[in-house]
Amino acid sequence: MKVLFICLGNICRSPLAEGLFAHHVNTLNLSDVFSYDSCGTGDWHAGELADPRMRKTAEKNDIVLTHRARQIRLSDFDEFDHLLVMDHSNYNNVVALNPAMAHKVNLLTYFHDTYKDQIVPDPYFGGQEGFDEVFHMLNIITKDLVHFLHQPA
Ligand code: 4NP
Repeated sequence: MKVLFICLGNICRSPLAEGLFAHHVNTLNLSDVFSYDSCGTGDWHAGELADPRMRKTAEKNDIVLTHRARQIRLSDFDEFDHLLVMDHSNYNNVVALNPAMAHKVNLLTYFHDTYKDQIVPDPYFGGQEGFDEVFHMLNIITKDLVHFLHQPA
């Protein structure tokens, strides 16, 4: 099962989602079941580590983010089973790249009982509380996502 987390810049929300998903996968000893990556719809930050504010927020919760930003590529639509986006703008940008694969593209919150259909707000232009909020939200959602996707067929 291959999961791709997608946001705009791939330096705030999606690298954290990837890092938290990895943490939960490893905690549950499911690393042979899942693989994962993250990317952005834009290429402005390609090659960069996550934003220092996002890394610091993760590190104070013992999550180390080592991902280097990259832009989405067309092969991602074939490679991944789930392409999970943070907001409606991401959704529209991703689906526009390959409308025939829209069935693989969902809001990250689509599978979650409590957060269903909510967006993950972009913390980039705000203060520390936005980064803390995104951490709290993504920690819960990615943990529950591992359980949801791991249901026996
Ligand atoms: P992200 O946040 O999509 O969660 O990585 C952003 C990162 C960079 C920019 C906007 C949002 N930017 O405008 O450079």
